[in-house]
Amino acid sequence: MGEIILKTNDLTVDFKIKKNLFGKPSRLSAVQNVNLEIRKGEIYGLVGESGCGKTTLANAILGFVPITSGSFEAFGHTVTASTKPAEWREVRRHMQTVFQDPYSSLNTRFTVWQIISEPLYIRGERDERVLRERAAAMVEKVGLSLRDLDRYVFEFSGGQRQRIAIARALIADAELIICDEPTSALDVSVHSQICNLLLDLREEFGLTYLFISHNLSLIKHITDHMSVMYLGEVMESGATDDIFANPQTPYTEALMSAILEVNPSKERERIILTGEARSPIDPPDICRFANRCPRVCDMCRNAPLPAAVSIGGDHMARCHLIGKGE
Ligand SMILES: Nc1ncnc2c1ncn2[C@@H]1O[C@H](COP(=O)(O)OP(=O)(O)OP(=O)(O)O)[C@@H](O)[C@H]1O
Ligand code: SF4
Ligand SMILES: [Mg+2]
Repeated sequence: MGEIILKTNDLTVDFKIKKNLFGKPSRLSAVQNVNLEIRKGEIYGLVGESGCGKTTLANAILGFVPITSGSFEAFGHTVTASTKPAEWREVRRHMQTVFQDPYSSLNTRFTVWQIISEPLYIRGERDERVLRERAAAMVEKVGLSLRDLDRYVFEFSGGQRQRIAIARALIADAELIICDEPTSALDVSVHSQICNLLLDLREEFGLTYLFISHNLSLIKHITDHMSVMYLGEVMESGATDDIFANPQTPYTEALMSAILEVNPSKERERIILTGEARSPIDPPDICRFANRCPRVCDMCRNAPLPAAVSIGGDHMARCHLIGKGE
C-alpha cells in the first residue's frame, strides 16, 4: 500500500449560528473529531446520509471553511486553525476538486480552453499559447475533442461538462482529487463513463481520490477504503471490502442493507431506519444515532460514544455493542 498522503487528527468543524437576532450563538457540530488516513493511489470513500458533514469535511481540507480544532497532515505540512494563508496555498497546490454540479462550478463566460487552463493562469502562467496547448492536451485525455476548445459550457451535456471539470482539476498536476458526488447530477447512462474515466486517469497520472457519494453500490465498486459518517462523526472506517462484508455498527448495517446485491443469496434483510436524525445544534455527548438506532441500550443513552476500536487490520468502529458479543 502507498504512503499516507492525507491524515486528519481529530478534525472538527463547528458553525456558529444564531437562533434569533438577540440570542447567544449556538454550535452546529458539522464535523467532530474525524480521524482518517488516505494513502497514495487509493480511492477513499466517504458515505453517510445527507447533512452528515461529508462536504464540510472536504471543504475544511480544501480551506473553504475554517477548521475549529484538530488538524490534518498533507504534503509535508500540518494544517490547523491557525495556519497562515501562504502555507495553506502550498498545501492547496496538491489538491483539486470535482463537484456535483459541473454547470454551476464552471464559469459560463469562458471558453473551454480558458476554463481548463485557469488553474495555470492563477499560478501565474500568462502565455496564451502555452495555456491553450496545455488545455488541448487535457481535453484529449478526458475524451473531448480539440474542436471543443473554443466552445462554451452551455453547449455541452452534463457528462461532457463533468469531463471539462475533470480536465481542469488535472491540468495543474494535483495529486489528490476531491470528488464530491461527481456523478449524482448526471444521467444514469453516463455515470459509468465518468467513473471509468476517473479510474483510467488515476492509473495514468498516479492520482488519489477522496470520493464522496450517496451511491453505496458505486462506493463498493470503486473505493479501496472508506469512512461511514453519521451527524458529523465517523462511526466506522477501514477497507471497503471488510466494511461491506462485516459491518460493525447498527448504522453501517442499515446503510449496507439498502444496497441491492447482484447475488440474491447474499442479500441482507433491509433495515429501515425510522425517526428523524437529531439536530446537529448543540448535540448531547452521547451516540448521535441513539434516537434512531434499532439496538440502542441504556449505555447508549447515558454514556459518551466510546473511542474507535480495531476490529482487525485497519477496520475501526465506534459503538457500545462492540466486544459485547451481541
Ligand atoms: N456554511 C454553513 N453554515 C452553517 N451550517 C452549515 C454550513 N455548511 C454546512 N452546514 C451544516 O453542516 C452540516 C453538514 O453539512 P454538509 O453539507 O457537510 O453535509 P453533507 O454530508 O455534505 O450532505 P449532502 O449529502 O446533502 O451533501 C449540515 O447540518 C449543514 O446544514
Ligand atoms: S452506540 Fe448504541 S446507539 Fe450508537 S450505534 Fe451503537 S448501539 Fe446504536
Ligand atoms: Mg455534500
